[in-house]
Amino acid sequence: MGSSPFIIVAIDGGAASGKSSSSRILAERFNLLHVDTGSFYRHLTSELLRRGVPHTDLPALRAVLPELKFDTRLEGRSARMLIGGQPAGDEIRSAAVNEHVAHYAAVPEVREVLIGYQRGQADVARQHGFRGLVMEGRDIGSKIFPAADCRFFLFADPAERAKRRAAEGRQDVIGQRDTIDSVRLNQSAQGAIAIDSTFLTLEQVVDRLAADIAAKLGA
Ligand code: CDP
Ligand code: CDP
Repeated sequence: MGSSPFIIVAIDGGAASGKSSSSRILAERFNLLHVDTGSFYRHLTSELLRRGVPHTDLPALRAVLPELKFDTRLEGRSARMLIGGQPAGDEIRSAAVNEHVAHYAAVPEVREVLIGYQRGQADVARQHGFRGLVMEGRDIGSKIFPAADCRFFLFADPAERAKRRAAEGRQDVIGQRDTIDSVRLNQSAQGAIAIDSTFLTLEQVVDRLAADIAAKLGA
């Protein structure tokens, strides 16, 4: 095991395409650090809303963003982002954050402030003895780790994705977020292995991803 390579797995895709569920299982199976970058954008959105800085107020964003200090806390195999030492609470899944997050995430200054932090998760994974990292989001294979060992793009029919969110009892604005996220979604799909999960179970999706990762690890 000591000789196996450190592996970076990038999983991109729209809301409820199965990124988080599959990443968590892969992290367990291959001893990878799981990094949900959507939770980072959600946490940052929640913090900016709390501070009363709208996504349209660029001067205020430029003043506040450099002040924020980002750290990581491990919870099991998952990386949790701390802002000013504080972890995210349940409010990052609230209707307000669902509604605003894609707007904040579309602001280049907001994305810029998280790039180095996201790339630094590979160091966190190495320092804690993980065999690699599985990071999920909208631009992981296109922007954060374009040289990732495995690049996947998950998608599913919008109606199926809405059904999945509803089954979780979560109110969401999937279609609205997809539209705002569309440029990044298209870019992250380029050159990635695309998997349509509309008619696949979560287990089938994971098996497909795991086969590629195992091949890369030589396992
Ligand atoms: O879980 P779900 O796919 O519904 O969303 P999420 O991964 O929690 O991401 C919330 C929002 O953050 C997305 O709709 C994007 O606007 C933004 N995001 C992004 O722009 N880039 C990422 N790498 C991850 C999330
Ligand atoms: O992270 P993302 O928003 O892409 O999706 P998720 O939170 O992993 O998946 C949303 C829900 O769909 C979860 O309850 C999964 O168990 C479910 N799911 C499914 O039913 N079939 C799949 N092929 C993938 C996910």
